[in-house]
Amino acid sequence: MHRILNTKVFKVDPDNIEVKYIEEAAEVIRSGGLVVFPTETVYGLGADTFNKDAVVKIFEAKGRPLDNPLIIHIASIEQLEEVVDLKPIRLDVYRLVEKFWPGPLTFILPKTQHVPYEVTAGRDTVAVRMPAHPVALKLVDLSRTPIAAPSANLSGKPSPTLPEHVIKDMVGRVDIILDSGETLYGVESTIIDLTIDPPMLLRPGAIPVEEVEKYLEKKILIPDFARGVAEVSEALSPGMKYKHYAPNTPLIVLESEDYSNLQSYVGKIIKYIDVLKSSRKKILVIASRETEDLYRDLDVIVLVLGSRNNLFEIAKNLFSTLRSIDELSVDLAVVEGFEEKGLGLTIMNRLRKASGYNIVKI
Ligand code: TXA
Ligand code: MG
Repeated sequence: MHRILNTKVFKVDPDNIEVKYIEEAAEVIRSGGLVVFPTETVYGLGADTFNKDAVVKIFEAKGRPLDNPLIIHIASIEQLEEVVDLKPIRLDVYRLVEKFWPGPLTFILPKTQHVPYEVTAGRDTVAVRMPAHPVALKLVDLSRTPIAAPSANLSGKPSPTLPEHVIKDMVGRVDIILDSGETLYGVESTIIDLTIDPPMLLRPGAIPVEEVEKYLEKKILIPDFARGVAEVSEALSPGMKYKHYAPNTPLIVLESEDYSNLQSYVGKIIKYIDVLKSSRKKILVIASRETEDLYRDLDVIVLVLGSRNNLFEIAKNLFSTLRSIDELSVDLAVVEGFEEKGLGLTIMNRLRKASGYNIVKI
């Protein structure tokens, strides 16, 4: 059980930071408390990386299984060296992080002995990133310690992209919530394991894996679990086995081999819905701006994720849309698929997992 805390919520404008609020939050981190803070991806739930008791409180607050490790957030290269042992790595990590940090890219690297096993769930590797959000960077900086933080949702729920999500999930469970409005990307960081060669994508995220491949001039292994089409092997990627992002309402992803002819694709979706309609009364369709009108003659609710020509927009709206499914009290939700390129891979990973692998190819 988590303790019931008196949570303070501070609004912080990222373009004009009131330092006194970050100071107070940093003091909470230094004294072993919990702070929810914005990042450019989703909100994080942070504690002092080097304080075991504080780290354990993160798991209690989220209801997170203890075998699901956390990401360490740093604000400087000195802090990278405090948590990561770069000696066994042949790749030039400094060049790589110079290119992509601060930013939504997390690397798995060997840990130093200073990082407690509570953070890494018993592993000798650690997940680390430097976030590109002024409030997150200021908080880590003023705390004078790297901050271990998973996403600030209750375990199993979609990651929070809006202040109301964190307030709903975390009031009473943390000491301070720093509210800086909607997060920029709306999906979590891309996670790449650099302890193996070739590197392996563990989670597609806000940075398309192709961008990292282009820079490294080498292929990154993309296992089926990173696409969201297979359950994960525990040894490779702890934590990914847990049900994620899932609404209580049954959700089906209707996928196609080819999204170039949307008229024909939606025609098939409509046929599929017609069959379902005999047994389920209220159906929700999660569509795109290009297709929403094609459902107009159907007795269904339609939500629009965004434009197919702007996957950034689709990714950004994804989690708040998933959170809203249950509020609409429908019997079933179906969602359109997207081509697995660039952010499309990230979107499909999240949708497939949200559906509990309830994937239908039409
Ligand atoms: O954008 C993000 O990454 C956000 C913000 C707050 O930074 N964080 C986030 O953390 O999404 P979350 O709740 O997804 O948890 C981190 C995941 C774990 O589930 C685990 O799969 C992976 O990172 N991870 C952490 N340490 C690992 C390790 N040593 N080896 C393999 N995977 C690891
Ligand atoms: Mg998470």
